This record gives sequence, structure tokens and C-alpha cells, in this order.
Amino acid sequence: MSLSSLTPQEIASRLEAATADYEKFASRGLSLDITRGKPSAAQLDLADPLLTAVAPGDTRSADGTDTRNYGGLHGLPELREIFSPLLGVPQAQLLAQGASSLTLMRDALVFMMLHGRPGSSGPWAGEPVRMLCPVPGYDRHFGVAESLGFDLVPVATDAEGPDMEQVATLAGSDPTVKGIWIVPVHSNPTGVSISERRARALMELTAAADDFTVLWDNAYALHHLREPHPEPIDVLGIAAGSGHPDRPLVFASTSKITHAGAGVSFFGASPAMVEWFANHTAAGSIGPDKVNHLRHARFFGSPDGVRDHMRKHAELIAPKFAAVDEVFTRELGPDDLAAWTDPAGGYFITLAVPPGTASHVVKLAAEAGVKLTPAGATHPHGVDPDDAIIRIAPTMPPLEEVAEAAEVVATCVRVAAYESVAAIRA
Ligand SMILES: Cc1ncc(COP(=O)(O)O)c(C=O)c1O
Repeated sequence: MSLSSLTPQEIASRLEAATADYEKFASRGLSLDITRGKPSAAQLDLADPLLTAVAPGDTRSADGTDTRNYGGLHGLPELREIFSPLLGVPQAQLLAQGASSLTLMRDALVFMMLHGRPGSSGPWAGEPVRMLCPVPGYDRHFGVAESLGFDLVPVATDAEGPDMEQVATLAGSDPTVKGIWIVPVHSNPTGVSISERRARALMELTAAADDFTVLWDNAYALHHLREPHPEPIDVLGIAAGSGHPDRPLVFASTSKITHAGAGVSFFGASPAMVEWFANHTAAGSIGPDKVNHLRHARFFGSPDGVRDHMRKHAELIAPKFAAVDEVFTRELGPDDLAAWTDPAGGYFITLAVPPGTASHVVKLAAEAGVKLTPAGATHPHGVDPDDAIIRIAPTMPPLEEVAEAAEVVATCVRVAAYESVAAIRA
């Protein structure tokens, strides 16, 4: 049954039942939060051996470096060796840095504003800069670009990645379009992994700006919930083969692998771009936290150590995604009230509710004690023109709380959807 085929009487009685369910939840004094994609305490516990992986008197790396001292701007070689095959970046072109990859993205963009980059005719600052933002997308990407004064240009996405016709039209004709955000694997929030075809088209594209840059944020490269895993894409190899070796900048981190606030970030690029990034970084750093790099290298031991560790994460969080799917299927499926993703990895479920109701759903949920990411957060400047997309982050709360929060959200969707269709018909 679809919403449009219901009679006015059916809508009225469903709205009455949904409102009664909502009142019951609202009277419980709940306090649940499914706003941000953070790991749960149980996931963080998995990495606690890190806290004792480096002991007094045992701080030297494999090559004898005393990790407590200054230096080693590129990061500890043995950690870069482990992550090189996992991220598909040759070790010599992979830097290991501080805890946050978002900081590296911001740094790269600031360096471009102040200095330009190989291929630039000059610094970006003082000129208009437009950044393509596939939507739905990651709010902090939009925030970084906005904080630097960039104009954010939404681009539609589908099951293979960004709409390349739109990208080619915008980037091909306008030299102020300087870049695009891409989350290539298990994207935030749609869970989509870009197809090799789209990745290749992005690298081959003839852009009007010679320094058109793809911010390839591989935050969820290893964060699979089930088999099969997306095929890895050799973005640097494709870029080099397409004549645009300096176009992609690869970012990743262990934020959602080990400890979110005390992990290691990675930067990968062409040799020229690595040199450019390292040289500018060197003006403000004598070297990253190599003790933390050593801890991580010892804790994982090998690429397979990382893969095994990520399977333990999946065991903890896959049931939470399944719980949300079960509730939504049961509560929203029969009247076809919404659509939602069933991601094969990453940290989010995207819920698409009837247009014009997302903000109302978020407000109703908040009033019943369930915090959701603000409607619109998945779009540039926080404005979803259809007011239809809600991002659900099920990883952090315990399973029972996730399931309960999903029940509340589904009830709010029911209330908002029946109210909206009743109002349209009135
Ligand atoms: C796509 C994406 N990139 C980057 C980050 C943050 O990464 P980091 O913790 O390394 O700064 C997140 C966190 O949610 C994310 O979803």
C-alpha cells in the first residue's frame, strides 16, 4: 500500500494510531542520541592494548629511531608500510600524521589558498573558489570549505557516486571550480562506494582549472559490515595514467579503527603533491607523534592485523544497523512511508522521508527525547531544498537504545507523513 492510495478515513485512523504511539514514547522521559558517527565504548575497548603497547625503555622503532624525539615528518615507516596496501598508496607517497584527517584536509586547502599548489597559477586566496559537494554528503566537509569562504555547489549522487554530467559541466566550464569532495567507500551518509568507472571519469575530466583537486576522503576504506567488500580503486594510478597525477589527495585515519580522539591520520598523493604538502607542513611541525605511530604499528603488526581488527568492529555494529532496518521495515514499510539505505559499511543510514517533513520529524523526535542530526546537515549550508533527508548514526549507543531510538524515529515519520498527506488533501 502506498501513502497516495489511502482513503481519507484510512489516513485519519493511521494518524490517530501514530499519535497515540508517539504520546506513549514522549511520556517515557527518554534521552537517546543518534546524531554523530562515533564508535561505541565497546569498539574503543578493542583498541585498549594500544595504551600499553609502548613501555618505558621500549620506545625505539624497527630502524632504531627513538620515537620520543623530534623528527620524522613523514611518519613512522613501519606504520606507513602497514597502511600502504590497505589504502592503495605506495609507502613513499603515504604520510602518517596526527589524530585527525579532517585537519589534514583543512591544511591542504589552506596551503592552496596561501600558496597555490603544483599546477596553480597562484594562491587561491583573493579569487572566488567554488567547491563541488556531492549530496547527501558530510557536514564537516561543507563546514571546512565554508569556513574558508568557498562557494559550495551541490552535485547529485546515485548508486555509483556523483553525477558526472553535472561535474563535467561545472568543472569543465568554470575555472573557479577548484575541487570536489569524494568519500569513495561507504560514503557518509549514503553508504555508496564510487564505481571505478566514475573514479576514472573524475580523473580523466578536462577541468577548466589546471589545479582542480579531488579530495578523496577514504574515511571508511576498511569499515565493512559484510561481504563482499567494494573493489579497491587505485585512484593515484588512474590519475597518473589519465595525465592528472596531482589531482587526487587521499585522506584516511584510524579514528574509527582504534581510538577516535587519539588515532593516526594519513595523507597520500603523487610524489609532487606529497612533497608540496610535506614542505608546507614542515613550516609548522617538527614531526608527528611517533610514539602513537609505534603503538599502532605494534598493535596491528601487519595489514591482516588491521583487517582482523575491523571484523571485530563489524561484529559489534552490524547488529545495530540490522535493528534499525528491522524497525523501519516493520513500521514504515507497509504504507511505503520512507526509503532508507542498508549500507554494506561505514557509519550511517540515510533515511528519506516524504518531502517537506524531515525537519518536523527531527523536531518531534527531539521532543520525545531522541536527538537526531539536524535535517539539512547532509546538504551545503545545512539546507536540504526538499527537506527530506535524515542521517541516522547507529554505532555509538548500546543495541537496545539504538532499537528504541529507531522505534521513536519511525513513529515520528508516521505522524509527520500522515499529517502531511492529510494537510495536502484538505
Ligand atoms: C567522511 C569523513 N571524513 C572524515 C571524518 C573525520 O575524520 P578524522 O577523525 O580523521 O578527522 C569523518 C568522521 O565522521 C567522516 O565521516
